[in-house]
Amino acid sequence: MHIWNPEDYHRHSSAQQAWARELLAKLRLAGDERVLDLGCGEGKVTAEIAALLPRGSVLGMDVSRDMISFARQRLPPEEYQNLRFVEGDMLDLPFERKFDVVFSNAALHWVTDHGRVFAGIGRALRPGGRALLQMGGRGNAAPILALADEMVTEGPWREYFAGFSNGYAF
Ligand SMILES: C[S@@+](CC[C@H](N)C(=O)[O-])C[C@H]1O[C@@H](n2cnc3c(N)ncnc32)[C@H](O)[C@@H]1O
Repeated sequence: MHIWNPEDYHRHSSAQQAWARELLAKLRLAGDERVLDLGCGEGKVTAEIAALLPRGSVLGMDVSRDMISFARQRLPPEEYQNLRFVEGDMLDLPFERKFDVVFSNAALHWVTDHGRVFAGIGRALRPGGRALLQMGGRGNAAPILALADEMVTEGPWREYFAGFSNGYAF
């Protein structure tokens, strides 16, 4: 289980926001779609999607309770009527033919069973729906992760990392 600090993420995620903007341009939304934003984090990208949907809506979903409560407080439904947030695990998507678009930015490498996520996305999409997913790929952050893998087997901290797995799937 990873612990996220939404305030900190909000201040230090301009890189993720820039990647999301590139991706959003590719979506070419008509403005009336229902969109699911998987692993939405603290919601600033989800709010940018909402601004592109004058006749549609977006649901941000994230497994982190802290990220979701931060998003709900900063972007309340009274002010953002086409924007909602829900706590949930993308491995267990509960939706059936609900969305025209499933979007995800910088989140899928936090889960290892991508097949299970894709099956849920398939169920969540309406016929003719689209998915646009961006994640870290093979080799991403490799030098620093290799260093961390080495360090956890050494020195006084070795005992604290017995059986540890960082849980990434780049
Ligand atoms: C780097 S943040 C990306 C947030 C946002 N998409 C953005 O572009 O700023 C990764 C997010 O993925 C979420 N996440 C990780 N595993 C998840 C899962 N199994 N289901 C839903 N969200 C998950 C984390 O809680 C975190 O908020």
